[in-house]
Amino acid sequence: MARKIIIDTDPGQDDAVAILLALASPELEVLGITAVAGNIPLKLTQTNTRKVCEVASRPDVKVYAGAVRPMVRPLVTAEHVHGDNGLNGIELPEPVMPLQEQHGVDYIIETLMKEESGTVTLCPLGPLTNIAMALTREPKIAERIKEIVLMGGGYFEGGNITPAAEFNIYVDPHAADVVFKSGVPIVVLPLDVTHKVLTTEKRIAAIRAINTHPAEVVASLLEFFERFDEEKYGTDGGPLHDPNVIAYLLKPELYSGRHCNVEIEIYSELTMGETVVDWWGVTDRTKNAYFINDVDADGFFSLLTERLARLPNY
Ligand code: BDR
Ligand code: CA
Repeated sequence: MARKIIIDTDPGQDDAVAILLALASPELEVLGITAVAGNIPLKLTQTNTRKVCEVASRPDVKVYAGAVRPMVRPLVTAEHVHGDNGLNGIELPEPVMPLQEQHGVDYIIETLMKEESGTVTLCPLGPLTNIAMALTREPKIAERIKEIVLMGGGYFEGGNITPAAEFNIYVDPHAADVVFKSGVPIVVLPLDVTHKVLTTEKRIAAIRAINTHPAEVVASLLEFFERFDEEKYGTDGGPLHDPNVIAYLLKPELYSGRHCNVEIEIYSELTMGETVVDWWGVTDRTKNAYFINDVDADGFFSLLTERLARLPNY
């Protein structure tokens, strides 16, 4: 039976690739997708989510708009990375499929209360606002969530938006704090993993060679997305973040890490949003997350390329 997931996202080119990977994979049943403010404001993330579903020829997917801003701090966006509409790199048509009327946070709660307990996995690819709001508004959902598999944080690699913090956690550290204290089993795909998953010229060429419209969209989005990080890190290709969440669900054997305690810095302006990882077990704090630090990057790209080739051409 397919694994039921809810994707929570702020597309973003790498979010888009994650959504396409999920929709191309029969092992996963995407119950719905909730958009959150992050890389760009909510109006654009919900629209972009629908554009991406249409690239996958899946206008039937239910897309919801969630939180318009973080719980406490003002919204910080990342147009400098993703471009002014979040999906710069290729012009996608305005979506025809509707946005659902229900609020994304209500949708998450309703779905978790309705589906059999322990069967729904949450896949956050952006700031954790929607997830934290749902956990706060209906705490009963915590014990019903199978797992939260998220992209965020960094330990060995430090941060990408500040020296200490990764973007998703930095934008809503208070939400991240709620999530990491929730008691729900958490798997973290941090920068320590995603910085090993580089969109090299050869890998993008392999995606483009699939020679379908969805593959062309992905290749063009990634070529735009990588330019900022190539310059920053001096690498061939930039890190591909969010699709690791989906790839982990499909092939966990590509990844390895450690169960440890992860706490979120919410007090210091200097290190706001830092993921404080007790990798070496120097405290007796509860191990609340499986923190991944290694990946078979070639295995990841073979999986991604093989799956993208399954999306219908149009
Ligand atoms: C994360 O921040 C966003 O810019 C990306 O979409 C990804 O989710 C990486 O730090
Ligand atoms: Ca994202």
